[in-house]
Amino acid sequence: MRVRVPASSANLGPGFDCFGIAWQLYNEIEFYHSPELVIKGCPEQFRNEENLAYLGYLSVLRAAGLPEEPVGISFLSTDIPVCRGLGSSSALIVGGALAADRLYRLGLSKRELLHIAAAVEGHPDNVAPAILGGLTASIMDEAGSVVTVSFTLSDKLCFTALIPDFELSTELARSVLPAQVSRADAISNISRASLLLKALEVGDAGLIPAALQDRLHEPYRRGLIPGFERVQELALSRGAAGMCISGAGSTLLCVSQGAGFTAGMAMAMAAEFPSWRVIPVIPDLEGAAVLE
Ligand code: HSE
Repeated sequence: MRVRVPASSANLGPGFDCFGIAWQLYNEIEFYHSPELVIKGCPEQFRNEENLAYLGYLSVLRAAGLPEEPVGISFLSTDIPVCRGLGSSSALIVGGALAADRLYRLGLSKRELLHIAAAVEGHPDNVAPAILGGLTASIMDEAGSVVTVSFTLSDKLCFTALIPDFELSTELARSVLPAQVSRADAISNISRASLLLKALEVGDAGLIPAALQDRLHEPYRRGLIPGFERVQELALSRGAAGMCISGAGSTLLCVSQGAGFTAGMAMAMAAEFPSWRVIPVIPDLEGAAVLE
């Protein structure tokens, strides 16, 4: 049985650990009953019991009170870049969770899968769009319960992912964050995050420059992304309404009013940052799906 799970960008500027959008950029993974754990189609270092697709799979068996049986996992396509802030870990966990539900005919809802997968990942902000698709805002309370709401996304805004050739581990990107923030920074983020949801809903590019500003994580993380300031200058001078770090990075995400931005930005990046990929990313509105 094959599952397809979308990439996602968490945070979106001020929505730190809360907002996420799913993209039409997918991993496709096949799962089948097997007498032993078999993992194919990925680098050797991931062919073991720590594989996140396997952990996602096991998490559902555990939640259902079933024995932890092995499984065969074949990675058919892995278009989501690894450790680039595009939700590759969540996509694997969600793929495994969805596959276990279907292989064992458990009939779990997407909301139930979200709760289980978020517990494995630790944050719901990538897992929610990976499962549900679209734009989501999520909380995980002290007891680990997840509440997620979905928002509509205007098609007037376009998104471009700038993907560097270097990885950035979430662990490192979280280690540079302060444990406490000022009231002014908290207020700035709450108010801008609220504006951002409206800007994305109605496609108001004029709101984006103010709405995408973050004070909780980006000021600390941008130093981990060599070239950040120059890339931002290029993006804004080429017509982006705003740019933010996708998830914990290293990918940067630009928001623009027209699709024409991507081609111009690709040329500018090819001249100064030739090792970065510049790709348009289109929201996925379906979320994780079983293909057969
Ligand atoms: N919200 C998370 C972060 C996403 O920015 O650290 C990566 O798990």
